[in-house]
Amino acid sequence: MSEQILVTGGTGYIGSHTTIALLEAGFEVVVLDNLCNSSVESLNRIERICGKRPKFYQADIRDRKALDQIFAEYQFNSVLHFAGLKAVGESVQKPLDYYENNISGSITLFQAMAQANVFNLVFSSSATVYGAPTEMPIREDFPTAAPTSPYGSTKLTIEVILKDLAKSDQQWSIALLRYFNPVGAHQSGLIGEAPNGLPNNLLPYISQVAIGKLHELSVFGGDYSTPDGTGVRDYIHVQDLADGHLCALKAISEDAGVRVWNLGTGIGYSVLEIIHAFEQASGRPVPYKLIDRRSGDIAECWADPRKAASELGWTAKRGLIEMMADSWRWQENNPLGYAS
Ligand code: NAD
Ligand code: UFG
Repeated sequence: MSEQILVTGGTGYIGSHTTIALLEAGFEVVVLDNLCNSSVESLNRIERICGKRPKFYQADIRDRKALDQIFAEYQFNSVLHFAGLKAVGESVQKPLDYYENNISGSITLFQAMAQANVFNLVFSSSATVYGAPTEMPIREDFPTAAPTSPYGSTKLTIEVILKDLAKSDQQWSIALLRYFNPVGAHQSGLIGEAPNGLPNNLLPYISQVAIGKLHELSVFGGDYSTPDGTGVRDYIHVQDLADGHLCALKAISEDAGVRVWNLGTGIGYSVLEIIHAFEQASGRPVPYKLIDRRSGDIAECWADPRKAASELGWTAKRGLIEMMADSWRWQENNPLGYAS
């Protein structure tokens, strides 16, 4: 019998790509999502891509009764926990929503797991937990820092909770995956990132400018101490990220305790480099203007990915142009996201 995996947030951007990787690797996948930031149409697309459809429950991770029912129905080997609110700016406006959804929701999920004797967990953390390191690239042993947003605080708090949990009970086997900047889409162009309203992140914004939905990109700050003055980030293809989860699943099935891995490429690109690469990949112009820095942004952030390479046997394979081309294919084929 194939291993059963619960994927919370599995209709979202990263969860849907990881669900495909899991189904293709032969896992039986159960997706739980309350659809607050995703569409059930992603499940149809997943089925079109890999000929298999995950079981789906529209449920909230804060709903203990719903969780208990799902855990009673299956014998999960592991949980991949993607569900959460993720908009940095919105978290500043609505901190209680973020603490309640992300932290209370995660605690409820971990309680339901423990009761069901499921102790293998992969958690979606973020490079935001490092704050503004003075040195690059960022290694996992760098100190975590006071996050600059309630969103970041939720990620760091959940990491702390999971470390305490693993200390209290050695059955827990936990991977904290600190993602850098996920971009791109499945090469089929059938699934991708579908933000509600005005995009906060660079790639969805650029894509919407290129397709003509938005007029021009505002580049936040041209006066950083970086080679061209704009912010530098470690952009990683979402399919590489998905593959990283499969490697983490294998690792946690072999050893207990909590381990942390950066999932990044180890290469930093500036905003201007991204704009030019996107123009090259799409053949479309991306008009932009330089404006003031965005509050809370850091100058540069890229990963040292060697720990994941040596311990998980995982490295990102897809380069910049492929990331841009795949983002564009998704945007061009689905100008209205999953409503297209
Ligand atoms: P996403 O919004 O596309 O996916 C998250 C999913 O969780 C959505 O489908 C949403 O409907 C669901 N969800 C939210 N709250 C829920 C709840 N209470 N109960 C059930 N479902 C709920 O986001 P994503 O980009 O796929 O991110 C996945 C995870 O990775 C998140 O935890 C996010 O914080 C983390 N992460 C994302 C990035 C990024 O830049 N995309 C970077 C670092 C970490
Ligand atoms: N940027 C612009 N204009 C825009 C949007 C972004 O110039 O309209 C710039 C930013 O200033 C930054 C870069 O593009 O230099 C990337 O910005 P994003 O908003 O795409 O990503 P961030 O690095 O700010 O944050 C992302 C996620 C966070 C996560 C963090 C680290 O949004 O959730 O990566 O993993 F915490």
